[in-house]
Amino acid sequence: MTPTQRPVKAAADELIDVSFTVNGTPVTITVAARVHLGDVLRTHLGLTGTHLGCEHGVCGMCTVLVDGDAARACLVFAVQAEGTDIVTVEGLGTQEAQHPLQQAFSHHHALQCGFCTPGFLMSSYDLLSHSPDGVDPETLPEEMSGVLCRCTGYRGILAAVSDVADAHPEGIPEPLNCAPRTLVGRAGAAPAAVAALDEAPVGDIVEEIPAELSRPTGTPTLTVEVTRQLRSPVEEVWAVMDDIDRLARCLPGAEMTADLGGDRYRGRAKVSLGPVRLAFEGLAQITERDAADHRLVLLAQGADTGGNRTAAEITLRAAATPDGSTELQADAAVFLSGRIAQFGRALAGDVSQRLFEQFADAVDTTARTGTAPDVGTGPSALAIGARALADGLRRRLATLRTVLHLGRGPRGR
Ligand code: FES
Ligand code: FES
Repeated sequence: MTPTQRPVKAAADELIDVSFTVNGTPVTITVAARVHLGDVLRTHLGLTGTHLGCEHGVCGMCTVLVDGDAARACLVFAVQAEGTDIVTVEGLGTQEAQHPLQQAFSHHHALQCGFCTPGFLMSSYDLLSHSPDGVDPETLPEEMSGVLCRCTGYRGILAAVSDVADAHPEGIPEPLNCAPRTLVGRAGAAPAAVAALDEAPVGDIVEEIPAELSRPTGTPTLTVEVTRQLRSPVEEVWAVMDDIDRLARCLPGAEMTADLGGDRYRGRAKVSLGPVRLAFEGLAQITERDAADHRLVLLAQGADTGGNRTAAEITLRAAATPDGSTELQADAAVFLSGRIAQFGRALAGDVSQRLFEQFADAVDTTARTGTAPDVGTGPSALAIGARALADGLRRRLATLRTVLHLGRGPRGR
């Protein structure tokens, strides 16, 4: 990593491009700064051989090689892996062509459930590749103590490592499965992999951008119907609605990152529900554009790196009012999954309402001035979330006071 390749500081949810090599394959992904390497390997790249146990550096299950040295993938932020060469257990060998370590573990029955095995394999590879004089049976247990096995004895593991050391006094064979190949993200993986498609070398990550976004089905998590009066005349408001670049800049916390053609766009958005800050990345598509009726229908879908997913069908309609101003109306069916769906509808509804109010005000200003807010200087979604939470709490306290008050009899005073 060189100091010029990335900022010294990054917000936890800031999306950053990271390039490294995994098992011989160059990969470029876009990932939030807070995401650790273990999650990137498993979730973004589909390399689920790296197991996660404690996720705080104790169990060693997540051990991989970074530039030839063992490292706990749960303690390495993915952004720290910039420019490195990573080998996971998948790179060690294949079922058909196992590495000598894998053969020895099998021969010595050095596993029971096998959950710790990838960590032991990569840790023992690190040990043997750094022990040109072989291993000492006396110190081997301590050398291997960086990985914990919760269900089998360690004898088979130690015997396997000893065997391989004895069989290869000239040095342990290199990993056998590190030729460039296609890495396929798991189904449902966060769309950071999608974001990487343009930058990634062809064939690194296979994840299709659909020709058309599908309309969400089922019962929405919440529906939103909001109306806002704008001072601008309807034709000027429509001019903003019909210009996706300016329209996107009016959305609090949103940023359009690519025009994919076919009225499809890639973008990212930050939103806050109280203390929880979320950074979504996803796609949007305009499915109807009716200039006569000043009506726009769009589908949007996104996900963050924490497993939250959202999809929405949004209808925007501008109508002229008798005084020459405009009534802007938004109807949205919003589908949420992941922990974001655990927030109450009222709070999510509050946030949606405030998002729309700020959006509508920004559209109004843009219609009057002709200039949309600069990217990154639009309304703050974080502030919206904080205010919505505060208002929600105030309402709940007011309700509670009312209930307590009504519950008191004359003797309670
Ligand atoms: S999961 Fe990384 S050390 Fe336990
Ligand atoms: S074999 Fe089960 S944790 Fe080690």
